[in-house]
Amino acid sequence: MLVLGIESSCDETAAAVVADGRRILSSTVASQIEFHHPYGGVVPEIASRKHIEAISEVTKQAIETAGLTVEHIQAVGVTRGPGLVGSLLIGFCFAKAFAFSRHIPWMAVDHLEAHLESVQLMDDPPDYPYVALLASGGHTNIYYLPSRGVYRLLGQSRDDAVGEAYDKVAKMLGLGYPGGPVIDGLARKAGGEAVAFPRPFLDKDGFDFSFSGLKTAVNRYLESSDQPLAKVASQVAAGFQQSVVEVLAYKIINAARVYGCSRLAVVGGVAANQGLRSRLEADCSGLGLKAFFPPLDLCGDNAAMIAALAHQAVCLGRNDSFDLDVYSRRPRPT
Ligand code: KG4
Ligand code: ZN
Repeated sequence: MLVLGIESSCDETAAAVVADGRRILSSTVASQIEFHHPYGGVVPEIASRKHIEAISEVTKQAIETAGLTVEHIQAVGVTRGPGLVGSLLIGFCFAKAFAFSRHIPWMAVDHLEAHLESVQLMDDPPDYPYVALLASGGHTNIYYLPSRGVYRLLGQSRDDAVGEAYDKVAKMLGLGYPGGPVIDGLARKAGGEAVAFPRPFLDKDGFDFSFSGLKTAVNRYLESSDQPLAKVASQVAAGFQQSVVEVLAYKIINAARVYGCSRLAVVGGVAANQGLRSRLEADCSGLGLKAFFPPLDLCGDNAAMIAALAHQAVCLGRNDSFDLDVYSRRPRPT
């Protein structure tokens, strides 16, 4: 079955064609980063306008790259939320219109469940059960997945998401948006010199996180430092990343231990972080655990994960009503 996926929840307009929920025939992503970069974060109004400009072309490209025409598409999956309502609506209405005009089923899927599904698109995906860390610009959640399609939320950030903290610290350091990749690169260049920052919630039981205090600690350090920003930026980046990586690695490994899993997965934009990947791979191999990370192009927002999740829904006979609407936040946590 050939499913067209469409994603427009934040600042990426994406379309993809996935065969049988497993084989990615195409995955096209039009990033808006250059338009948001001057503002140090995503500007919702700009995001909506850019989605409108890009959606038709991105979809056309995805279908052509797959070597197909619209007649071949058998179902459409689209992100329903969470995300920016103005942005979501562009992909959502486009997907409805596509499915309506072609008389094919359409599925409105959850963006977080799709990130969790992204790891199943790997050549060698994890078997169930496993625990997963979803670390992105909007979420820092830990889940237990006993079987396909079942997600039990174990913990989440009580304030900023980890990707959001990366973006805010990068803004303080004058590094622009998005902050994650720049801080990750700077931290690697720091040559072992790192400012010591607190490890938030490392001493707490449970699987919740907090990153706003860490962000404040970075801000205080910068305010009290008499060194020019350019001189301290890499040590601050390294210290911030060490703190984040230690907390994330500790919590997800602890979740695997508590839930008796020998496998863990990390998904979402922050799963691209090289510091986190190498730390988890080293820690897991010492403990007899296996860490799974999707390939880099499936970590950030993409439509292949949307199509893969929609495929599962089609197989269950689902065909959503055109009356459905988008949501900015999940109606209830999973
Ligand atoms: O999953 P994603 O593309 O969008 C959301 O659903 O939020 O995640 C975007 C987030 C941004 O905050 C970005 O700074 C962060 O992922 N990110 C990274 C890295 N690459 C992207 N954070 C840390 N290290 C990276 N290499
Ligand atoms: Zn995302």
